[in-house]
Amino acid sequence: MKVAFFSARKYEEKIFQETQKNSDIEFEFFEARLTEKTAQLANGYHAICVFVNDLLNETVLTELHKYGVRFIALRCAGFNNVHLPTVKKLGIRVVRVPEYSPYAVAEHAVALLLTLNRKIHKAHYHVREMNFSLEGLVGFDLHGKTVGIIGTGKIGHVFAKIMNGFGCSILVHDIKTDAQISATAKYVSLDELFKNSDIISLHCPLNDSTRHLIDANAFAKMKSNAVVINTGRGGLIDTHALIDALKAHRIGGACLDVYEEEEGVFFTDQSSEGITDDILARLTTFPNVIMTSHQAFLTQEALMNIADTTKKNLVCLINGTRCENEVAHMS
Ligand code: NAI
Repeated sequence: MKVAFFSARKYEEKIFQETQKNSDIEFEFFEARLTEKTAQLANGYHAICVFVNDLLNETVLTELHKYGVRFIALRCAGFNNVHLPTVKKLGIRVVRVPEYSPYAVAEHAVALLLTLNRKIHKAHYHVREMNFSLEGLVGFDLHGKTVGIIGTGKIGHVFAKIMNGFGCSILVHDIKTDAQISATAKYVSLDELFKNSDIISLHCPLNDSTRHLIDANAFAKMKSNAVVINTGRGGLIDTHALIDALKAHRIGGACLDVYEEEEGVFFTDQSSEGITDDILARLTTFPNVIMTSHQAFLTQEALMNIADTTKKNLVCLINGTRCENEVAHMS
């Protein structure tokens, strides 16, 4: 079966080409992001393979269905970009990769925190310019600090373990409790977590109940030196409120791998044109903000796991068998 592969990048093409060997799957790679304009690329394909910023709204899904698409394989865990009622209505089967490397994401969250706190990004450029002064590079010990984790699933779990290793106290908040994590962490209300954490890291999915979980109210409750880490989804934070909090020095800083309006910007090189999003442009000007463009997942191991699970998911769809990673079953 031929599969139209949207948002294809060189770093994954090779791995997916390898994966399709000895199978009935043949990926056709398109660099384009799936949108209303590019949906026609899927004309004649029975299946498509998409990533986090591909658009799967009502219009696109209806177009895809018209072109013959019946299967959608997400190369990611989150499915907030898929309009589930339309999927159900059209009878399209959607599968995802629920887990590929919680270590990749949790380790990236720690990398962002250490970089921002110890100002490694600044120090690197200072040294390259023969500036060996230490002015402006003072950080803080992680040891003894309180880390608040929202979402204690696979990634939150690994993040808690790593931060425990640094000698931090761990506060957690989730809609369900996990006996394993409560041995080393304390479940608290969101308010308590906001009030008492020096570092707050978001590891819950984006849905109606978590959109703008971190808003002006939340920032107002935080410690004035709190560092917020978001490797979850951009929409978990109200960006306007974040900018206000940063401008008013109401928090210590932010480590961001995701951004509310990242679609169409992240994963692309805008260095010669510049960007038109003034909010994103403003975010990049704060000395206490560090941003990466949704790369927390990007390790060799994660890419191989994504390719492997996607192949297994597609084989289930081709064979018409039940797939444990089917999204529609979860809604
Ligand atoms: P998971 O499903 O294992 O864990 C999510 C946890 O969030 C669950 O324990 C769930 O009960 C909890 N949760 C749900 N609603 C909540 C709420 N209202 N308040 C507090 N907790 C709530 O998911 P996993 O694998 O740990 O991934 C977490 C998120 O990380 C994903 O949903 C995805 O958005 C994001 N992600 C980001 C990546 C990146 O490259 N930046 C890569 C992979 C995932």
